[in-house]
Amino acid sequence: MQPSSKKPRVDVAVFPVAGRGTRFLPATKASPKEMLPIVDKPLIQYAVEEALEAGARRLVFITGSSKRAIEDHFDSDGELEHLLLKQGKSEQLKMLKSVLPSYASCIYIRQPAPLGLGHAVLCARPAVGDAPFFVHLADDLIDAEESCLSQMAKRFDNGSIVAVQTVPHNQTDKYGIVKSGARHGDLLRVDRIVEKPKPDKAPSNLAVVGRYLLTPRVFTHLERIGEGAGGEIQLTDGIARLMNDEAVYAYRFAGKRFDCASKLGYLQANVEYALAHPELASKFRGYLRKLARDI
Ligand code: G1P
Repeated sequence: MQPSSKKPRVDVAVFPVAGRGTRFLPATKASPKEMLPIVDKPLIQYAVEEALEAGARRLVFITGSSKRAIEDHFDSDGELEHLLLKQGKSEQLKMLKSVLPSYASCIYIRQPAPLGLGHAVLCARPAVGDAPFFVHLADDLIDAEESCLSQMAKRFDNGSIVAVQTVPHNQTDKYGIVKSGARHGDLLRVDRIVEKPKPDKAPSNLAVVGRYLLTPRVFTHLERIGEGAGGEIQLTDGIARLMNDEAVYAYRFAGKRFDCASKLGYLQANVEYALAHPELASKFRGYLRKLARDI
């Protein structure tokens, strides 16, 4: 008989989706930035699929004003299903029904004011309880053979993990930056973590991207820390405090990250996902080749 694994299962994923996405105005005036599509699927659906692949079953969305479309997206739509059935569009019907599998449940919590990512995560506490949980930032789209959260869940051994990648030195002030120490298998012990340091103050150029696997003890710290960088309650600062209690690890994930909070990253993601899309790939490749000759 196999010995039973002690690895705790990560059941909850938190999606902070309250931000207004001002960089994409006017597109995001009335509709959530997380609903922007990459080819034909909104960013938030890629996020949910990644969390489900990693084993999460309770999906907690921290929402704000003008985010109703996210709830509608994950709700069933009897009228549309009926229409597709009547029109014999069985493929589309199947796709519609697969947006949220029946074994998953959604919880929506409203963040009362835009007080920062740390505050958004703290709002999830009543739904998370006393168990480890994922935090997923949908702006960071990661194309990977095995989803980034799955890679992290596999390596989880009771210590929080943040996903990291190296970034150009002059961009450290866009990220949480990690100074790493001892190696533990695929993980690096975090010696220091600091939110958006100026390049001349940054301890390294190893940046946190939007995937976290956190232990619930982080809530105690998020509750106590005050405003940090940008006058907001920062998740990074909560993690820095957590490091006084327990080890925190950084993980260099396998995969390609697209910064969909920026227009350039968003366009790059669309081009690369279109080049891999079963219906579009061949025609789109032909189009790009012709375009590249002409410009
Ligand atoms: C947030 C975090 C930052 C992290 C980044 C990843 O910043 O505060 O530590 O590196 O996400 O995308 P934001 O991009 O929301 O300003």
